[in-house]
Amino acid sequence: MDVFTAIRSRRDIERFAEQIPPRDLVERLIDAAIWAPNHRLTEPWRFVVLAGAGREAMGDAIAASLAAEGKPEGAQRSARSKLLRAPVTVVVAQVATPEDATRDLEDYAACVMAVQNILLAAHAEGLIAHFSTGAMVEYEGAKSYIGLAPHDRIVGYVNLGYPRPEDPPKEGQRSAPVVRWDWT
Ligand SMILES: Cc1cc2nc3c(=O)[nH]c(=O)nc-3n(C[C@H](O)[C@H](O)[C@H](O)COP(=O)(O)O)c2cc1C
Repeated sequence: MDVFTAIRSRRDIERFAEQIPPRDLVERLIDAAIWAPNHRLTEPWRFVVLAGAGREAMGDAIAASLAAEGKPEGAQRSARSKLLRAPVTVVVAQVATPEDATRDLEDYAACVMAVQNILLAAHAEGLIAHFSTGAMVEYEGAKSYIGLAPHDRIVGYVNLGYPRPEDPPKEGQRSAPVVRWDWT
């Protein structure tokens, strides 16, 4: 698949078949991730791969932490179910540098590019992917479970798997780009 086709035909899809992608394929996706552009080669990314019972363990840890904080049971249930919706989840995290705001922003950008590499490589290999952020990136219980310091960030959760046979292909939609050309 050429790169333009991959970019245009990739879609975010959140319903997965049960089949688990092979581990060596997930390893190749993470290898694709680390070839993202990265100013000063700081390598700010960390990846945590969850599959099988590993998903439940992180869900339980987040739920326990939310319970200790007195958060409603609905939030605990939601955290657990979000980690069970795909057969494999790659948590992409950034080791942050609050003492250097410029580097911190560049490193965050590099991590987001790493995510896009995973999404495109997964698509090229016949997988589907759902990228998710929201409250799940903020939870202290999630950060501590994967060994992050409080000032580090979870960039997002890349859920991976195969499409369900009954689901129709998802259409993409984009508006015309807003471009100003000063090309004289
Ligand atoms: C930074 C970022 C955060 C996202 N977070 C979520 C999320 O929390 N939940 C969700 O359902 N989709 C999330 N998405 C996926 C977008 O909703 C999706 O990319 C968008 O609907 C466009 O669809 P497409 O990727 O198929 O073109 C996120 C995407 C990005 C880039």
